Amino acid sequence: MSKLPGNAGVSVLGDKSLEFYRDPVSFYRERIEKHRSRVFQCRLLNRPTTFICSVQAMRELLCEKSNVFQKDPTDLMTNMFGDTIVTTNGEEACLLRLSLTSLFSGSCLESSSDYITSVCVRCLKELSLSRQPECVYSVFKRLGTELVLGLFLNVRAEEQPELFQEITQLCTQHWHGLISAPVNVKVPLWSSGFSTALEARDKLMDIIKDKLENDTQGFVGTLRSLPLPDSSCASQHLLLFISALIPKALASLLTSFTLALSGNEQEEKRRRAIEDPDYLHRILLEVQRLWPPFIGGRRIADKDSTLGGFHVPKGYGAIYISHAVHRDPEVFQQPDNFLPERWSGRNAGQEHFLCSFGSGPRSCIGSKLNDVFLKLERLPALQPVCLCQGVCIFFFSSAAVLLSFLP
Ligand code: HEM
Repeated sequence: MSKLPGNAGVSVLGDKSLEFYRDPVSFYRERIEKHRSRVFQCRLLNRPTTFICSVQAMRELLCEKSNVFQKDPTDLMTNMFGDTIVTTNGEEACLLRLSLTSLFSGSCLESSSDYITSVCVRCLKELSLSRQPECVYSVFKRLGTELVLGLFLNVRAEEQPELFQEITQLCTQHWHGLISAPVNVKVPLWSSGFSTALEARDKLMDIIKDKLENDTQGFVGTLRSLPLPDSSCASQHLLLFISALIPKALASLLTSFTLALSGNEQEEKRRRAIEDPDYLHRILLEVQRLWPPFIGGRRIADKDSTLGGFHVPKGYGAIYISHAVHRDPEVFQQPDNFLPERWSGRNAGQEHFLCSFGSGPRSCIGSKLNDVFLKLERLPALQPVCLCQGVCIFFFSSAAVLLSFLP
C-alpha cells in the first residue's frame, strides 16, 4: 500500500496550521501540484493529517469509512459549545441525531414559512431600495440572524428589537472567541477575546435557559419535550443552533449567488431562473459547488486504514477541503467555470458528490428542513426544487426573492 505523499513534519515546529488557515486555497493548490496527488499529508493542529481534495476520497472518509474516521471530542467546538452532537461519536451520536432530526421535520417548521418569507422580503426589499452602495454580505448576515433567532429562539427583530440586538452581539463575541487563541486572561481595562467569549456564552446560556423554561411554542417548545440525555443538552444545542456560524454560512452563499448573477451580462440567466425553478436549483448547486461556505470537516483515524489508496495510520487526522473536492477534474469538467447546465448534463444526479453540507451519516442535520418546506403549497415555487441539503430552504427562499430585486 502506498505511503501518503508529503511530510507530516515534526511536532510543533513542523506544524502548518497558520499557513493553512491564512490561505487554504493556495495551500492545497500548491501541494496538489507538488505531490501530483489530491490526497497528501501535512501537520495540522500539531497532528499528522491527511488532506482530502478528491471526490472519491471524500466519499470514503465521510461515507464508506465513517466508522473508522471519527469526530474529535477535543475539538475547539467543544470548548465553546460544550458537549454537542458535533463532537460526539458512536451510539450517543446516533441517538442524538435521531432526537434532534425530528426538530427539522415537524409541524413547528411548517408553521414558520410565513415568517421566513416575510423576513426575506423585508430585508431584501430594503436592500433594493437603498440609494447608496451596500455591503451585501452584512445585509445577508442580518437576514440570516433574523431567520435563525426567530425560528430557533422565538426572538423576532421586529417584535423585540433590543433583545434581538443583545443576542446578536453576544453571538458575535462568542464566535470571535472561538476563532481566537483559547487563553482566558483578564486584566483591568483589557480582557482576551477568549475570556470575552466565555462571558458572552454565559449570558447567552441565561437567555436560552429562560426561554427553555418559559416558552412552549415553536422550536424551543419542541426541543424541551425531546428525550435528551441530560438537562444541559437542550441548552447546549440551542447555543450551537443560534451561533453566528449559520448566518455567516447563509450570507456567504447569498453573496456568491448575487455576485454570480448580477450585472447586465447575466440578465438572461436571471430571467431563466425566475421562470424555471429547475434552472434556479442548478444555479444554487453550482454556487455551493464553487464557493462552499465552510472549509470542510475534520476526523481522526480510530485504527489503521486507507484513503484514496494511501495508508493512513491510527491517530492521524483527516480533513476534507470542500473547495478542492468540488474542483476534482475527474468528476467536474472545467472545474473552475460557473456552468449551471452541468447539473442537467454530465453531472445530473451527482449532487452527492458535493460536500458543502458534509456527507454520509454525519452530514448537516439541517437537511430535513428542506423536505418540510418542499411540501408547502403556499410556496409553490419551491416545490420542484430538491436541494439535497435542507437548510438551503433559507438559501432558496432568499435566493428566489433576491432574484426579483437584482439589477
Ligand atoms: C448554510 C448553512 C449551513 C451549512 C453550509 C452547513 C454545513 C455543515 C457541514 C459542512 C457539516 C458537516 C461537518 C463535518 O463533516 O464535520 C454540518 C454539520 C452539522 N450542521 Fe450544518 N450547515 C448549515 C446550517 C445548519 C443549520 C441551520 C443547522 C441546525 C440548526 C445545522 C446543524 C448542524 C449540525 C448539528 C451538524 C453536525 C451533525 C453531526 O455531527 O452529526 N447546520 N453542517
